[in-house]
Amino acid sequence: MKIFADTADLAAIETLAEAGLIDGVTTNPSLIAQSGQSFLAVIAEIAVCVEGPVSAEVTGTEFDQMMREADVLRAIAPNICVKLPLTLAGLRACRRLSAEGCSTNVTLCFTANQALLAAKAGATFVSPFVGRLDDIGLVGCDLLHDIRQVYDNYPNLQTQILAASLRSANHVQMAALIGADAATMPPKVIEALAEHPLTRSGLEGFLRDWAATGQSILQ
Ligand code: E4P
Repeated sequence: MKIFADTADLAAIETLAEAGLIDGVTTNPSLIAQSGQSFLAVIAEIAVCVEGPVSAEVTGTEFDQMMREADVLRAIAPNICVKLPLTLAGLRACRRLSAEGCSTNVTLCFTANQALLAAKAGATFVSPFVGRLDDIGLVGCDLLHDIRQVYDNYPNLQTQILAASLRSANHVQMAALIGADAATMPPKVIEALAEHPLTRSGLEGFLRDWAATGQSILQ
């Protein structure tokens, strides 16, 4: 499963990319607003940091404006993936951009039917929002199961499932077990994937015993 960082925090992206832990980046207008930076400038900087897809989202709601914005975004770098909302206008723009060879990410997906339409529109990725379904009392991971099953039923559908709105290491593990093609998460969730209390306490024990030997590897 590919791992994407869901952030516009350049320093965090650089650290994760250097460690080889991320295959791409996703952003959304809220993350750009949080970063306090210029949208086009920060996207250009991120696109240099990672080789994989960098999702940059249009903000227009009508087809014509989406297409004009997409032209600006895709001109930034070859690894820009144009992110479009799962609306009829967004799907139409997705179809047009995909036909032109542009990578696309259809976002704000909450049902398997919506994911089916995203695939019909030729989306490179569809982003089902797991955590936001949990927020309203549903089981967000069920959506990943449903989309996986629909896509597997029709192998001609080429869209990759990009599990999104993942808030915990458990969400990520579920996405991987279900067979999501990719998962996007905040940097703190990526860091949490490496954590286990037995890893921590085991290391403390090894270091205590090592210190008691009085030895040093470095002379
Ligand atoms: C995905 O592309 C979105 O940017 C993101 O995963 C949304 O996550 P949230 O529901 O935690 O805001």
